[in-house]
Amino acid sequence: MRVWECRRYGGPEVLRQANRPRPAPGPDEVLIRMAATTVSSGDARIRASDFPGGFWLPARMMLGLLRPRRKVLGCQLSGVVAEVGENVSRFAPGNEVTAFPDTRLGAHAEFAAVPQRAVEAKPFGLDFAESAALGFGGTTALWFLRETARLKRGEKLLVIGASGAVGSAAVQIGRHLGARVTGVCSGPNMNLVHSLGAVEVTDYTRVDPFAGGPHHVIFDTVGSTTFAQALGALAPDGRYLAAVASVIAMLRAGKKDSGAEMIAGSPPDAPALFADVVAMAAAGVLRPLIDSQFPFSALPQAHARVDSHHKRGSVVVTLT
Ligand SMILES: NC(=O)c1ccc[n+]([C@@H]2O[C@H](COP(=O)([O-])OP(=O)(O)OC[C@H]3O[C@@H](n4cnc5c(N)ncnc54)[C@H](OP(=O)(O)O)[C@@H]3O)[C@@H](O)[C@H]2O)c1
Repeated sequence: MRVWECRRYGGPEVLRQANRPRPAPGPDEVLIRMAATTVSSGDARIRASDFPGGFWLPARMMLGLLRPRRKVLGCQLSGVVAEVGENVSRFAPGNEVTAFPDTRLGAHAEFAAVPQRAVEAKPFGLDFAESAALGFGGTTALWFLRETARLKRGEKLLVIGASGAVGSAAVQIGRHLGARVTGVCSGPNMNLVHSLGAVEVTDYTRVDPFAGGPHHVIFDTVGSTTFAQALGALAPDGRYLAAVASVIAMLRAGKKDSGAEMIAGSPPDAPALFADVVAMAAAGVLRPLIDSQFPFSALPQAHARVDSHHKRGSVVVTLT
């Protein structure tokens, strides 16, 4: 099967196409013939070895000190089940599915073996491209808003980076949870963010992103602000959520300042959240935003688009 390998850290030019044997599914795994995958900001971070402040060494220890240990990147995909392991009961060959292998990676390949826990039926009404883009942004937004901030109906939510993969999911999930959502993005993306469900939209290139406060929850999905800067715009019991946090910011996580709390980290159990995200998509509550689509042969160009830091939602790669 064809795969894309990241054999060393660097720009999109380090990626190489290679041939590998088609994997056999383990007892609890589903082998999926990939129809679509994404280049997420997480894939681009690993490839470029670009980690938030102070995380360079811990990340390199985890991912490979001199070169990536897992060379085939890609944390999510959709496709058709090709084979199932002996303990798999929920899926059979021919089923159309979406999967979120998350940090196990391996989706930038013609076939991927994924634990059945991280696989769900492709939601009716979503195509393969949209289905492939559910996990990364959706699970992150759901974990921060529902599990950590415990966002309540009627609260005011500010989403900074509302046109990104995490931000566009946060706007939709925030609205679904009953919050009054303000989105922060640049001028050309304002209509789009309105259409996702934001009641107010702020252009960060012209106006203070914290305008319109106090907010009960501020979710910075792109790391352009700090808890200290946000304090003046938070309600007394407010929560500041940092999707991108330096080591120093992580040390403040869980602590309170003037009654407001700083929250950072990553979802501990992505498959459980993924099932909820897919159910939300099936119910029409969440629709992944697609920035662009590239053929599998052009995967380095997809990385270059992610490196711009101006994608709208997800960059999808399709296998035809
Ligand atoms: N903690 C976790 O578990 C976790 C999980 C997933 C992702 N992340 C991190 O979350 C970050 C976001 O990921 P993503 O894929 O959603 O990012 P992304 O899609 O690359 O975000 C790009 C979007 O951000 C907007 N943007 C850029 N600068 C901005 C600013 N100063 N203010 C407001 N909007 C701005 C851009 O809009 P314009 O073009 O209009 O500027 C663009 O639409 C990444 O750094 C990723 O590593 C963390």
